[in-house]
This record gives sequence, structure tokens and C-alpha cells, in this order.
Amino acid sequence: MHFELSEEHLMIKQAARDFAQNDCKPGVIDRDTTMSYPHEQVKMMADLGFLGMMIDPAYGGGGMDTLSYVLALEEISKVDNSCSVIMSVNNSLVLWGLNEYGSEEQKKKYIPALAKGEVLGAFCLSEPEAGSDATSQTTTAEDMGDHYIVNGTKNWITNGGMASIYLVIAQTNRELGHKGINVLIIEKGMPGFEVAKKEDKLGIRSSDTHTLLFNNVKVPKENRIGADGFGFTFAMKTLAGGRIGIAAQALGIAAGAYELALAYSKVRKAFGKEISEHQIIQFKLADMAMQIEAARLLVYKAAVLKDQGKDYNTASAMAKLYASEVAMKHTVEAVQIHGGYGFVKEYHVERLMRDAKITQIYEGTSEVQRIVISRAVIGK
Ligand code: CAA
Repeated sequence: MHFELSEEHLMIKQAARDFAQNDCKPGVIDRDTTMSYPHEQVKMMADLGFLGMMIDPAYGGGGMDTLSYVLALEEISKVDNSCSVIMSVNNSLVLWGLNEYGSEEQKKKYIPALAKGEVLGAFCLSEPEAGSDATSQTTTAEDMGDHYIVNGTKNWITNGGMASIYLVIAQTNRELGHKGINVLIIEKGMPGFEVAKKEDKLGIRSSDTHTLLFNNVKVPKENRIGADGFGFTFAMKTLAGGRIGIAAQALGIAAGAYELALAYSKVRKAFGKEISEHQIIQFKLADMAMQIEAARLLVYKAAVLKDQGKDYNTASAMAKLYASEVAMKHTVEAVQIHGGYGFVKEYHVERLMRDAKITQIYEGTSEVQRIVISRAVIGK
């Protein structure tokens, strides 16, 4: 066990930090206010290789490990969580599953453009009546022999409007329950597929979140990933890795708010001295530093377990649960340390506080993470 990052990891972290501080920060408040998609920043993430970090260079990716991905996400999430969720979904929820379980034809057809960031992907599991209870899919993929006919609605889909490739989870045989679920690759432009309502959200406001409608969409059989009935396992395995990405996002939010609060506490004066000289602020900063470091260890551990080919299902749930709770708690504290300034947009911490909330909800709520962890602890 050692706790040092390699030179390469440090370089990736620095590159992501430079991108976040120099290229994301200047317009982030405005994009958040106006819900404007970060087109320029997404293009830059593609150029930096951040949209397909863990994919083999032979398929157009960066050939990096999960720890590199986490380090980059952490730095970007200190500033712009719309950019980091776009990056996280493309890497973890779309490319990972395609790469791990796709056929050679599917990999050759879809991965290079996604990994280079020429197109984006979306992961479509959530439904109006199936959020945490993911086995209760009502979207159907009726088996018609050489193709499926897909009908249904998906909700809260990140990259929903901007994506070109959609991994859609749908029920083929209801009698088989979760064993009757499939995952299909649906391309934008397939007749019957419609991008519907855009969400007006509390946080991550410049990311692109939509309802998607499927009305008799004809999908060729060769677009199914894995064997018949593999869709639910595919979703669970994909989300186990996705949770490492969201854990890294939550870590970045907490660390970003802490950096801002620490810097502010050294310049703001009250009662004749910098507020960092007051013990009440010192104790807040001490708790922030300690709990953020604990979250960091959990997040990095989950990433390293994945890189080592070990089981990371419980570790990723622990990392996401803990990091998201730390993010929520300490963004509130960062606003408090800033006082009235914390309540206005200019100082960035109120946005981080709003962004923190989603990390306790998407890719499995905190309650879902507790289900995953408690089952592992009890031995079920
Ligand atoms: N790996 C492989 N298989 C798994 C698995 C995993 N991590 N987790 C469960 N399974 C398998 C089980 O072994 C079981 O298979 P068998 O019957 O063959 O043994 C099957 O899946 C069903 O599992 P459970 O009985 O545990 O299912 P459950 O109904 O009790 O639900 C749950 C478990 C953990 C709550 C799960 O439904 C879940 O994770 N829900 C949350 C879904 C979620 O994260 N949604 C987020 C949407 S995506 C998103 O937010 C994207 C975005 O845009 C950012």
C-alpha cells in the first residue's frame, strides 16, 4: 500500500486543473444561470482525451486507468459539474459497457467516435416509475425475430439531447422479470425516437437532461449488447463503475468548496482579524479537510480496485455514498463560512452546494448505495 501518485497521474491531474480553472471557470456562472450547454468546453475535453480516457488507443481512446479518470473528474468537478457529468456518463456509463460487453462489430462501429468525443453517448435506464427500483422497467423491446420494436419513456437522461448513441434498457419478457431485460443501442434519427422535455434543474444546470420517447422504434437485433436477457446485469455492472465517477465528482465538489472557503477565510476580516484566526472557522476547516481526505481515500481505493481487476461493487457504493454526503455537508459549510457572499452567485459556492445534491440522487440514491453495502456486509 502506498499513497503517492505517479508522475503521469500528477500530469493528468494538472492538465485537468488547468482546463477547469482556465477554460471552465470564466463562463461557468453564466452557463449555469442560462442553462447554456458548454459546447466549447466539451470540444476541449474531447481534444484533451477526457471523453474516452480508459479506452484502448486502438479504438481511439486514451488508454488510461480509472485512477487517472478519477483525478481528472475531481479537478473538473471543483469548478464545472455540468462538464464533469457529461464526461462521466460518456466514459463510465456508455463506453465502459460497450467496450466490456459489445461485440467486435459494435465496438468498431460505435467506440472510436465516442472515445474521441466526436459524438456523445447517453445511458437510458430511469423511467417515470422506475428510478431506484430498476427491475420495474416499463419500456418494452418486443422481439420480432430479426429486430426489436421499442416503446416507452425514459426520464432524466444526461446528454439526452446532445447524444447520438443511446444505450436503452428495456423489458422483452415480463414473465422473466429482470432476466427478461435487454440493452439495445439506439441511434439518434431512428424513426419513432424523440428527444422530449428538457429539464430545468437545481444544479448541473448547463448539462443537457431530457425525457426521451420511443414510439415503435425498430432496432436491429445486432444492436443488442450481450445475450438475450443480459440487460439488467449490464446495467448493474455499468452502474458499479459509474458510481466511481460520481464519487469523484462529489469529491471534487467538496474539495472545490473547501479550497474556496479556505482562501476566503484568509482574506475576510471580522472582529479585528482574518476569520481563519477564529477557532469556530478553524474547526470547520479542520472537519472539512479530514472528511474530504477520507472521501478521497475511498474514491481512489475503488478506482484502484477496478484497475487491479478486483471486485469494486461495494467499494464504489461506499465511495459514492460517503463522498456525496461530504459534498452536501461541506458545501453548506462553505456557504456559511462565506456568509452573505456565499449566498450570491459570484462566489461560486452556492452553485457547488446546488450541484452537490444530485450526487446523492443519480446513479443510485444514497438509499440504493446503502442497500448495496448492507447486502455485502450481511453476506447476501
Ligand atoms: N453486478 C452484477 N449483477 C448484479 C449486480 C451487480 N452489481 N447487482 C445486482 N445484480 C443482479 C443480482 O445478482 C440479481 O441477479 P440474480 O437474480 O440472477 O441473482 C439481479 O441483478 C437482481 O438484483 P437484486 O435482486 O439485487 O435487485 P433489486 O431489485 O433488489 O435492486 C438495486 C437492487 C441495488 C436497488 C438496483 O435496482 C439499483 O442499483 N437501483 C438503482 C438504479 C440506478 O442507479 N439508477 C440510476 C439511473 S442512471 C443515471 O442516473 C444516469 C445519469 O444520467 C447520470
